[in-house]
Amino acid sequence: MPFALHDPPVRPAALEAPKLSLRGASKRFGGLVALADVSLDVRRGEFLSLVGPSGCGKSTLLHLLAGFEKPDDGAALMDGRPIAGPGPDRLVIFQDPALLPWLTVADNIGFGLPKKPRELYEETVGLLLRLVHLEKFAHLRPHELSGGMKQRVALARALAVDPQVLLMDEPFAALDPQTRELLHLELQRLWLGLHKTVVFVTHSVEEAVRLSDRIAIMATQPGRIRRVLDVDLPHPRDFNSPEVAELRAAIREEMRDELAKLARREGDEGWRR
Ligand SMILES: Nc1ncnc2c1ncn2[C@@H]1O[C@H](COP(=O)(O)OP(=O)(O)OP(=O)(O)O)[C@@H](O)[C@H]1O
Ligand SMILES: [Mg+2]
Repeated sequence: MPFALHDPPVRPAALEAPKLSLRGASKRFGGLVALADVSLDVRRGEFLSLVGPSGCGKSTLLHLLAGFEKPDDGAALMDGRPIAGPGPDRLVIFQDPALLPWLTVADNIGFGLPKKPRELYEETVGLLLRLVHLEKFAHLRPHELSGGMKQRVALARALAVDPQVLLMDEPFAALDPQTRELLHLELQRLWLGLHKTVVFVTHSVEEAVRLSDRIAIMATQPGRIRRVLDVDLPHPRDFNSPEVAELRAAIREEMRDELAKLARREGDEGWRR
């Protein structure tokens, strides 16, 4: 298991305790049940992906963990304690990086850091710039950056406050395949090197298989966890290996089944209307 290799020594009980948990969590928006009785443990240091059809509650689940929303029933926990609200220990990275347009790349990255002493600020920002390979672009403003560069700034800005958990909501969905590939490698390097726990929402089965320790496949109406798959394959993953092909096929099959169910249900409702 990757986290066993790079985590500092800890008592076995602590190793087993999940970093984040949902316990029978439900979330309603008016009459709509966005999440129904969801229970999920995210292990310390693991990379867990959430996949599922549009509207199945992936972002809602992430928002419960971020503390943007509270469950109507059940609980959202971090280290066994209820999540009371957003906190710098759990940072969210969205599809649209939302950088501050009037600040340079360097100052966007350093936004959450104390500005004094100045030397320490500059040293830390310099380190983060190197970490995401943006040293040469430190003085540019967001409008001068490509989509991939913006997402790197967002990643470095998140890492600046050294969160324990990164919650990522389709962070690479808007990027071209080559940039996406590069960012996969960078994210993986950062995740392995910095011991973060990552929950990653994606529509891409390839992305999930490439990056994850486990993949939670969600079902819709109401949103719930359909199945959690272990991805017990070494990194970097060989996309031509039979194991990867088998796993992709298994996930696709689950998703197809879910979409077919949805189509049948919508057909029935159309019939009734
Ligand atoms: N703040 C809100 N107010 C009302 N309804 C909401 C709110 N947030 C989410 N919903 C509804 O809850 C359901 C789940 O939404 P959510 O955004 O979690 O889905 P998703 O799986 O992230 O979808 P997508 O893949 O399209 O991003 C949807 O039906 C959505 O319309
Ligand atoms: Mg979403």
